[in-house]
Amino acid sequence: MQRRDFIKISGITASLLLMACSSDTEDTMGGMGDGTGSVTQISPTPFTPLRSLAIPPQIEGTNINGVLHFDLSVEEGSHSFFEGTLTQTYGINGNYLGPTLRLKDGDEVSLNFTNNLNEPTTMHSHGMHLPATMDGGVHQIINPSEIYSSTYKVKQKAATNWYHPHLMGTTAEQVYKGLAGFIIIDDSDTLTLDLPKTYGVDDIPLVLQDRFFDANYEFDYSPSRRQIMRGYIGDTFLTNGTINPYLDVQAKELRLRLLNGSNSSVYTLAFNDNHIFKQIATDNSLLESPVNLSAIRLSPGERAEIVVDLTADEDKTLSLIEINQSKSFLQLNVKTATIAPTTTPTTLTSLTKYTLEDASYTRNFTLSGSMGNFYINGVAMDKNVINEVVPIDRVEIWSVTNEMSMNHNFHIHATHFLVVERNGSALNVLSNEKGYKDTVFLSPDDNVKLMVKMSDYSDTTNAYMYHCHFLEHEDAGMMGQFVVV
Ligand code: C2O
Ligand code: CU
Ligand code: CU
Repeated sequence: MQRRDFIKISGITASLLLMACSSDTEDTMGGMGDGTGSVTQISPTPFTPLRSLAIPPQIEGTNINGVLHFDLSVEEGSHSFFEGTLTQTYGINGNYLGPTLRLKDGDEVSLNFTNNLNEPTTMHSHGMHLPATMDGGVHQIINPSEIYSSTYKVKQKAATNWYHPHLMGTTAEQVYKGLAGFIIIDDSDTLTLDLPKTYGVDDIPLVLQDRFFDANYEFDYSPSRRQIMRGYIGDTFLTNGTINPYLDVQAKELRLRLLNGSNSSVYTLAFNDNHIFKQIATDNSLLESPVNLSAIRLSPGERAEIVVDLTADEDKTLSLIEINQSKSFLQLNVKTATIAPTTTPTTLTSLTKYTLEDASYTRNFTLSGSMGNFYINGVAMDKNVINEVVPIDRVEIWSVTNEMSMNHNFHIHATHFLVVERNGSALNVLSNEKGYKDTVFLSPDDNVKLMVKMSDYSDTTNAYMYHCHFLEHEDAGMMGQFVVV
């Protein structure tokens, strides 16, 4: 096998990989060997030149009696990630990933998922505010050749959301094979503000992933016990399913909708020329004002919209890189602008902000685990157990504590939340996490306090989920269920 070298920014990638491997062998698994030898896992890599970035097609649905229908086939396929080779994949209406579903606040929609796989799946709308039966969580199983329709009215602010499988125990593997797509919601703010908004031109969705390929160029999803603990972190970056991509962009403001669609990787993203950029949106809303950043951290499932001003960069090339691995997710070639300039405003929206004093109840969650098992409040996910009963319209504090010496995050279905404290202080809340969120990062021993309010939909029997969005952890039990009553 030939060690890859085509997307290195510097010569240090290989040595970093080796360091990671050797420290892995002295890991904290209490002397339990995993026996798979996969710490030396390296994808085969023929020379792969820069390739044009794939941009998922955008669909707006077919209007039938006022309801927008999206017909989505979940299917097997094959895709050429490397020159001259094919990889077996899963996709939605295509070989890898799925179309971008474009919705507006107030739309009535019906997402009709047909399962054309040979195995059951589910399709969850991550970040959407909807009834529990429409959530596509672990209970809304779609057996082969069945159709699941998720129908609801869009009732939320503009956001970059996504859809992906959520079948208990196999979410990670099904996502790995390619099941994921964007759901982009517009509202009166995003439709009127002077933001870049020409899809595929100055408004680009980017799903960031990493994969291992085996010697036959097939996806290698074979996590060892250690990799379930520490995350299954592949050596090959995929951006919208493209390895080593470039994109020609215009010398004007560029909006990137970033989704960490990886299984378990935390990415810290920046531009290789240190370009400052603005974050304009968190998971579930615009920020009230843009926040200037030189780097941004995204854990699995999190999204951010950023705007980078390339007006003065005509004829230049820059790259969006992951700074810890010194590898590129996307090369941007800046060309003459042919569309009108935009000027991202300094005020973007206003958000309803509950404070700790508004809450009448605190709910505590601890993230813990040992020996490859993961728990929330000491128990692993059990489909037959409702862990929490949440009264509708009550403002609550959800206090989440990471009791482990490894990173996790915490995702809540059905709603958004506000992060109001980190480690006992509001001052530790990052300025770029002050919009609505549905997934929050927790370093070892971190505590976050979230303001949560469930609204509109109550159902005493059908549950929503909360979980760590590191998919190996979720599949290993770090998940629970709640009903809204
Ligand atoms: Cu993105 Cu419960 O999931
Ligand atoms: Cu979700
Ligand atoms: Cu986790």
